[in-house]
Amino acid sequence: METGFYRPDLDDAALTLLPVPGAAPVVETEWRAALPVMTNGSVTLRELELSDAPSLLAMLTTEEVTRFISPPPTTIEGFERFILWTHQQRAAGKAVIFGVVPHGISSAVGLLQIRSLEPGFGTAEWGFALGSPFWGTGLFVESARLVLEFAFTTTGIHRLEARAAVQNGRGNGALRKLGAVREGVLRASFLRHGHYHDQALWSILDTDWARARTGFFGATAAIVH
Ligand SMILES: CC(C)(COP(=O)(O)OP(=O)(O)OC[C@H]1O[C@@H](n2cnc3c(N)ncnc32)[C@H](O)[C@@H]1OP(=O)(O)O)[C@@H](O)C(=O)NCCC(=O)NCCS
Repeated sequence: METGFYRPDLDDAALTLLPVPGAAPVVETEWRAALPVMTNGSVTLRELELSDAPSLLAMLTTEEVTRFISPPPTTIEGFERFILWTHQQRAAGKAVIFGVVPHGISSAVGLLQIRSLEPGFGTAEWGFALGSPFWGTGLFVESARLVLEFAFTTTGIHRLEARAAVQNGRGNGALRKLGAVREGVLRASFLRHGHYHDQALWSILDTDWARARTGFFGATAAIVH
C-alpha cells in the first residue's frame, strides 16, 4: 500500500456522494453511520466537513508535508471531493478518516486515517499528516492517543500497521515514540517523485495497546515489548 490517503482520480471525479460499487455488506454500527467526536481538551478529532477543505489545502499540500506521502488534491474542490469520499469509505465500513482540530481553531489542520486491510477491520493500516506549523507541538501524540483508543476499543482492530518511507525521519520517529514495533523494510514499495522508496513496516497489536493505554500517555514511558 502506498504511504498516504489520497485518490488521484478524485481530482477529476464528479462532486457527488456516489454509492460504492460492489461494496461488501457490512454490519451496521454507530461509527459507520457517523464518526464520534473525540476530544481531550487540547484537540478534537471529528469527521471531516466540506468547510475544512481550504484549511486542508493550506496545511497539507506544502512540499515538506507531502515529501513522503501520496500526492494530495491540488484544489479546494479536490479536497471537497476527498472529504465526500472519506464519508463514503466510513459508511461502507472500509476506512475512517478523522480531522484534527486543535483547541481554539475551528477547521481541521491534519488527518488521521485507518484503513481496513481485511473485512471487519481485524487488520488495518493507519496514516497521518499534520500541517507543519503543528509539528513538534505534541498535537500528533494527543491525536494518536484518541485514534488508537478508538481503533482498539471501537473498531475491534487486532493489528494496526503503518508504513513510512525510511527517509521520513519525523514519520518513523513519531511511530517509534508511540511504541510501535518496526518489523522490517518493504523494499522499493512506494513510488514518489519518480523513484521507488523503501518503507519501514510498523505495527501495534491490541495486546500492546491494552498494556500501554494505562501508562504511556500519562507518563513518558512508551509501549514496552
Ligand atoms: C508524521 C507527523 C504527523 C508527526 O507529527 P510531529 O509533530 O512531527 O511528530 P512529533 O514531533 O511528535 O514526533 C516526531 C519524532 O521524530 C523525531 N525525529 C524528527 N526527525 C527525525 C529524524 N530525522 N530521525 C529520527 N527521528 C526524528 C522527533 O525528534 C520526534 O521525537 P521526539 O518528540 O522524541 O523528539 C508529521 O511530521 C507530518 O505530518 N509529517 C508529514 C506527513 C507524513 O510524513 N506522515 C507520515 C506518513 S507515515
